[in-house]
Amino acid sequence: MKKTIGIVILAAGQGKRMGTDTPKPLLIASGKRLIDFPINEAKMFCEKSNLSFLITAVTGHKRELVNDYLAHNFQDVATVFQKEQLGTADAIRSYFDQQKSGKQYDYTLILCADTPLIRSIHLSFLWKSLLSQNLDAVAATFIADDPAGYGRILRGEKGFKIVEHKDATEEQKIIDEVNSGLYIMKTDYLVNHLEKIDANNMSKEFYLTDVFKEEANVAPILFDDYKSFVGVNNPDQLEEVYLELNYEKIYDLKKNGVFFYDSACTYVDWDVEVGAGSIIYPQVSLRGKSVIGKNVVIDAGSIIKDSRIDDHTVINPYSIVDKSHIGKSVAIGPFARIRPDTEVGESSKIGNFVETKKAILRKGVKVSHLSYVGDAIIGEDTNIGCGFITCNYDGANKHLTEIGKGCFIGSDSQMIAPVKIGDNCYVASGSTINKNMADGDFAIARSVQENKPGLARKFIKKKDK
Ligand code: UD1
Ligand code: CA
Repeated sequence: MKKTIGIVILAAGQGKRMGTDTPKPLLIASGKRLIDFPINEAKMFCEKSNLSFLITAVTGHKRELVNDYLAHNFQDVATVFQKEQLGTADAIRSYFDQQKSGKQYDYTLILCADTPLIRSIHLSFLWKSLLSQNLDAVAATFIADDPAGYGRILRGEKGFKIVEHKDATEEQKIIDEVNSGLYIMKTDYLVNHLEKIDANNMSKEFYLTDVFKEEANVAPILFDDYKSFVGVNNPDQLEEVYLELNYEKIYDLKKNGVFFYDSACTYVDWDVEVGAGSIIYPQVSLRGKSVIGKNVVIDAGSIIKDSRIDDHTVINPYSIVDKSHIGKSVAIGPFARIRPDTEVGESSKIGNFVETKKAILRKGVKVSHLSYVGDAIIGEDTNIGCGFITCNYDGANKHLTEIGKGCFIGSDSQMIAPVKIGDNCYVASGSTINKNMADGDFAIARSVQENKPGLARKFIKKKDK
């Protein structure tokens, strides 16, 4: 039979030291909310270890926001309410009081919402240690360079106890093995010891760490990769965690055949996918849920956000692609801005200083220089000259410009939408088009040129010497 485990994510604290109104579990690192990490890693651990589980987050400070986020993104995560932040033991009491099935799980795993670098392998190691040594409870510990602020581990003959920084004697403060805040316990053991915890300490808080006793069948499990246990308590640590996530992500991509030339200044969010053979230049930022194909080049300074870029495409320097789909073998930029809902078909080309928005460009379309293409559909193999503008907005509403396939649209022309141009049309340079054109039509809409011999003299002004 499957073993069962109740997972509690502590997310009720105020996070005062962050200095922002946003509740700490919802702060963003590597394109994800901090609380996403413990939830996802706990799930992975349970699936790998064949455990039947239920995840519950204890929320308190600004709980409407945290609960709302969880309800929309993690339908399978339950929440309970800690009314007042009276300490970590009080948070676990709230869990058992409100999550009625909590006591039925054989084991309880406790994680903090603010430790996004803990991975499922850490959870597995802790779990195996508990089972193989037949213990009642384990805490993950590490050696801290600067143990200030952490609970210190006091190893006894049999078990161990934890003394919080504020309560530690000078001698105890020298101990550098510290508590990470990650625990697995037999649920019976936790429930029994939880009852007895009081708030007789410097903080007048109910410390969960008091469930560990020197005479009990419990052990600290020391991990050597201390970096994985960093908690986000201040803006410095948020940056530290972000950089570590970035390092981990790029390390993984490199193992899968993605090339970076200076990964210390290249940024890839956690959920981004990149195919083998792709080259990512320095100062690139790949964000959100972007999916980059194989053999793609993303050149320096480009930002790709929540977009799909297909195989063999080149994004030239300093281009921005936002919530769009760029097909195979396309060239974009340099200095292009691809705004949301743009679809660029295979083998198309978008050149420098081109902006698109809600635009569908079919196969082989060229918009090579200095243009705005918004609310438009452009047919296969149509060539758009330099300085083209869709006049899509009348001050109140947006209108569509449709251009058929195989057209030639001369430079410096504008389309006043709504307007529809058929297939194989030719628009002369400098035209302002506001009437539909049938297939094969030619349109010219500009004033006629007059030349007046010698008259230039009158208009050319010479400066006095
Ligand atoms: C805690 C541990 C400490 C450990 C450190 C590791 C205790 C008493 N101390 O201290 O031994 O070294 O983590 O980072 O547990 N929370 C609630 N309700 C509360 C209080 C806290 O949900 O009433 C949540 C917080 O949101 C946070 C977590 O519990 O996610 C830890 O609380 P925090 O105040 O950060 O504890 P530390 O002082 O860091
Ligand atoms: Ca903390």
